[in-house]
Amino acid sequence: MQTKVVAVTEDIIEKSYLEEAGTIIRNGGLVAFPTETVYGLGGDGLNPNSARKIYAAKGRPSDNPLIVHIADVADLDQITQGDLTIGQQLATHFWPGPLTMIFKKSDLVPVETTGGLDTVAVRMPNHKVARDFIREAGGYVAAPSANISGRPSPTVAKYVIQDMDGRIDMILDGGLVGIGLESTILDLTSEVPTILRPGAITKEMIEEVIGSIQCDPTMFSCVPDLAPKAPGMKYKHYAPKGNLKIVRGSNNQVVDYICQNTLAQCEQGERVGIIATNETQDAYVHGCAKETVAIKSVGNREDEESIARRLYQILREFDDEEITCIYSESFESGNLGQAIMNRLLKAAGHEVEDIRE
Ligand code: TXA
Ligand code: MG
Repeated sequence: MQTKVVAVTEDIIEKSYLEEAGTIIRNGGLVAFPTETVYGLGGDGLNPNSARKIYAAKGRPSDNPLIVHIADVADLDQITQGDLTIGQQLATHFWPGPLTMIFKKSDLVPVETTGGLDTVAVRMPNHKVARDFIREAGGYVAAPSANISGRPSPTVAKYVIQDMDGRIDMILDGGLVGIGLESTILDLTSEVPTILRPGAITKEMIEEVIGSIQCDPTMFSCVPDLAPKAPGMKYKHYAPKGNLKIVRGSNNQVVDYICQNTLAQCEQGERVGIIATNETQDAYVHGCAKETVAIKSVGNREDEESIARRLYQILREFDDEEITCIYSESFESGNLGQAIMNRLLKAAGHEVEDIRE
C-alpha cells in the first residue's frame, strides 16, 4: 500500500486534504493525524472492519480497546448510555483537551472498537486539524497512538512514517505536537471515578470540578497480582530498544552514578545514551570515547512541559542511533511529573536505581 503524506498546519489547512482523509475513513481506510498529545492512527469508530485494520497495522492485541475521538460534545450522546452529568461537567471544563473519559457504550459502537468491553473511551482533541478531520470522517474516529505496538508514541510525523509507511492510506503531517504524552484516562463507570493513566489533566484539576476521585493503584508501580484497568497499560509500553534504567537521587549523586556506570558499560562495548536536563547536561564527564556516548537534554527541570514534549522523541532518537544502554534522570515533582514518570517507568520496565541517602 502506498501511504500518502501531506503537510497541514492549524493555520493553513488544505480543504481538499481533509476531504480526502475523511473519505478514506468513511470508506474503511486508515489515516494518521496530529492531536495536541501524540499522533493518532485513525479509522471509522463505528466500523468493525476499521478496528480490525487498526489492530493489524499496529500489531496490537485486539483485546486492547481504542479511544473514539469526537469533534463536538453533542456527539457524545449517541455512542454512550446512562447518566452523562459528570461527563458533561468535565467536558465543559476540559474539552477540547487531553482528557479521555470512559462511559458505558451504546449499541452503535462495535465491540471490535472497544476490545470486547461494554464501555467506550471518548476524547475530544484540542487540535483544529484533528477536529476538522474528525468531522469530515463522519464524527467518530477510533484512534490509538500511531506507533507500532510497544514503541514510544510518535510526537512528530517522521516517526509515524517510520512505523506506518506502507501500512496505512494517509498521514496528515502537522509538525511537532504540543504536549507529547498521551491524554489522561478517567473511568466514569467505576463507583468512584478513577484515573487509569495520568496525563496533562491532573487528579487535582479533576477534583476541583467533581470532588474526590482515585487513581488506579498500578499507575506508578508493578503491583503483583493486580491487572491495570486500562487493558493497554498491562503491555510493555513506550519502550526503546536499548535497556533503560532510571536513576533516583540528588542531581550530583545521579550525575556521578551515571558517569561511573557509563564508563563501565562503554568498556563492555555498549553504546550509552543519557537522558539529562538543561541543568545537568554539562556535568556528565565520563571518560568514554565521544562516539559511544550520546547525552541529550530532555528539557528544563523548571519547565515540565518541555520535558513531556521531548521525552518520546529522545527515546526514538536513541533507537535511531543504535544506543544499547540508556540511563535517565528521574522526574517526580509537579503536575506533569506524574505522567512523565509513569511513562518513563513503563519504558524502563520499572528498573530504578535508588541512590538517595
Ligand atoms: O492522547 C491520547 O489518548 C492518544 C491520542 C491519539 O488521542 N491516544 C492514545 O490511544 O493514547 P492508545 O490506544 O495508545 O491508548 C489508549 C489506552 C489504552 O491503554 C487502552 O487500553 C485504554 O486507553 N482504553 C481504551 N478504551 C478503554 C476502555 N473502554 N476501558 C479501559 N481502558 C480503555
Ligand atoms: Mg499507545
